Amino acid sequence: MNSLREVIINKNSKSNPIWIMRQAGRYLPEFREIRKKNPDFINLCLNKELSYEITLQPLQRFNLDAAIIFSDILMIPYGIGQKVEFKKNFGPILGDLIIDDVLKISEVEFSFKLKPVYSAIKKVKENKLLENKATIGFVGAPWTLLVYMINKQSPKKELIKNFFKDQSLIKKTLVVIEKFLKIHIKNQINSGANIIQIFDSWSGLLEEKDLPDYVYAPTLNLVNYVKSLNVPVICFPREIKNYKEFCEIVKPDAVSIDYNVDPNNILKDIKIPIQGGLDPKVLLTDKETIKKAALKYLNIFKDHPYIFNLGHGVLPETDPNMMDYLVKIVKDY
Ligand code: CP3
Repeated sequence: MNSLREVIINKNSKSNPIWIMRQAGRYLPEFREIRKKNPDFINLCLNKELSYEITLQPLQRFNLDAAIIFSDILMIPYGIGQKVEFKKNFGPILGDLIIDDVLKISEVEFSFKLKPVYSAIKKVKENKLLENKATIGFVGAPWTLLVYMINKQSPKKELIKNFFKDQSLIKKTLVVIEKFLKIHIKNQINSGANIIQIFDSWSGLLEEKDLPDYVYAPTLNLVNYVKSLNVPVICFPREIKNYKEFCEIVKPDAVSIDYNVDPNNILKDIKIPIQGGLDPKVLLTDKETIKKAALKYLNIFKDHPYIFNLGHGVLPETDPNMMDYLVKIVKDY
């Protein structure tokens, strides 16, 4: 069994496997090289040869324990016919959501549109670099996808006014999201993904009173679905107001934490395997600071099943040598 699955399934606290969110991305010159020639981000995600190559880039450089497939959570709105574009220095911009058109999309149509993603996973999984390593498939959580589909761009610090006003649209959209998330998860697992991570990047925008309807219930439903396919599921409810309650209700196999939450409190409150936490900005400093910050997490979680990762994605301005240094610290621990 690979070491990530060993930590999650067998609760092994003796090893600290490591992978990094956005490990394939703009901080790597070899990614920027490919990206320069492929200005359309969605098309790049749909290029099975290139997404395979990009997925493996970080594994060629660093001693990581998992590959995460190069794709995006916004492939779901794309797959059901909502326009998705990525504007330089701005982020994603989505087109209008025409819910009645979206309701007509079939499973076959959707799976056909995203077929290159699944072909890339198969190819990654078969590569010898992946021997004894995990292949991570992923989706956005229902809430985070709802945010992008209704807000039509990153909400930054708050939602648009009247976000919840059209309750009928919100309910119909959540039904569609649930349906296609399940299809996308199943397709990734059938192609070889052996861990699923659910990214809820915007769970921190919700007040506690709204968590049951928009985060707990829809995510629990999805977590149970992944479990029914016999694959471990990691949830990342970034900046959620209450990690403990989230874990008790949603019961993921492991939880990924952000960098604003105190890891000592997490250790006290949470019994399931834990992942992540380190502030990605630490990688912009010097070796001494990086070592100290990494050891803090390793020491706190030394007797707890723990997967090393950052508390959010690696920043584009990160020096790859610092990443290499971090991986070595974790491996030598
Ligand atoms: O982690 C990995 O290496 C796998 C690939 C991956 C990407 N996006 C590639 C990507 C994963 C797991 C994601 C998840 C994702 N995408 C999330 C959840 C995690 C998070 O960051 O909170 C979200 C919210 C998105 C939506 C998204 N995609 C945004 C907001 C942006 C623009 C902001 C940015 O960082 O550029 C993207 C683009 C994106 N997705 C890039 C990559 C490598 C950068 C594309 C580029 O300009 O080259």
